Amino acid sequence: MKSYIETKDLVKVFKLGNVEVQALRGLSIQIEKGEMVSVIGPSGSGKTTLLNIIGGLTRATAGQTWVVSRDITNSSNADLGLLRQRVVGHIFQTLNLIPTLTAYENVELPMLAIKMPAADRKKRVTELLATVGLTMRMNHKPDELSGGEKQRVAIVSALANDPPILICDEPTGDLDQATGSKIVQFLHRVNKEMGKTIVMVTHDPAIARQTDRIYRIMDGKIISVQKPSESEESNAAMRVEMYRDRLNETESEIVSLELSYKKQKISAGTFAERWNNLKETKKFLDSELLRMGL
Ligand SMILES: Nc1ncnc2c1ncn2[C@@H]1O[C@H](COP(=O)(O)OP(=O)(O)OP(=O)(O)O)[C@@H](O)[C@H]1O
Ligand SMILES: [Mg+2]
Repeated sequence: MKSYIETKDLVKVFKLGNVEVQALRGLSIQIEKGEMVSVIGPSGSGKTTLLNIIGGLTRATAGQTWVVSRDITNSSNADLGLLRQRVVGHIFQTLNLIPTLTAYENVELPMLAIKMPAADRKKRVTELLATVGLTMRMNHKPDELSGGEKQRVAIVSALANDPPILICDEPTGDLDQATGSKIVQFLHRVNKEMGKTIVMVTHDPAIARQTDRIYRIMDGKIISVQKPSESEESNAAMRVEMYRDRLNETESEIVSLELSYKKQKISAGTFAERWNNLKETKKFLDSELLRMGL
């Protein structure tokens, strides 16, 4: 039995004239139904390419892909079209909202494609916009919405036809931290309450740690799969405590050292040496805490 979403040894080669780019080099993943996983990796490592293959937008050069446990590797274009309409909701890195359509019309568009009756459409668009708090913005066009609002429209537009799978490419990309974390909270609700399986690309380790599993991609291959376990979280919390205490100590040592020097209790040479050491320690601790997002 194949996993709900699975890829096996995916290879993707893009040809631009004589130049070949190997975007994926034998990439395999296995995601179970109901999971929310994140994909993390440097720019150009193949994250978007992977999502586009799972989403039925791009065909791999080699390897196999299963979506809702069905082999889509050799699906016809028409079948891939159905997959995009019904099975996979796709939130693009570039959002892909239609600039001339309002928020309401952008959310309605995928429903028109599957010929949903008008009354059902109206009910569903209204409900979806309400779940993301955009009732008052339904007649705004993308240009008349904030970044976070646009992102919310893109999410509910991806959910329009109630697909079982949602793939999100950097859903917090251009947003500030507070707005970004609201979007992620909403995606967690979509996963837990609506039962959608979610694959999310993110560059933010803190966001990745909130998901069931983290796939790390490098040069078109998975280099690690990690489960952010509770013990790891408590280890991180302990490290933060330790660094904070050490930082406080270092800062008070600097103060008392400066005082000793002013009172001429130590020589300039001793002062300079110790002071430099303490400043180095402080710089290291500051940067570690910053790296941990604190
Ligand atoms: N349509 C295309 N034609 C040619 N090369 C492409 C195409 N799409 C992607 N590539 C190349 O494939 C590689 C992987 O691109 P991809 O968009 O998957 O990276 P990514 O991990 O999503 O990066 P980012 O974090 O910057 O979004 C890159 O080297 C990119 O230049
Ligand atoms: Mg990308």
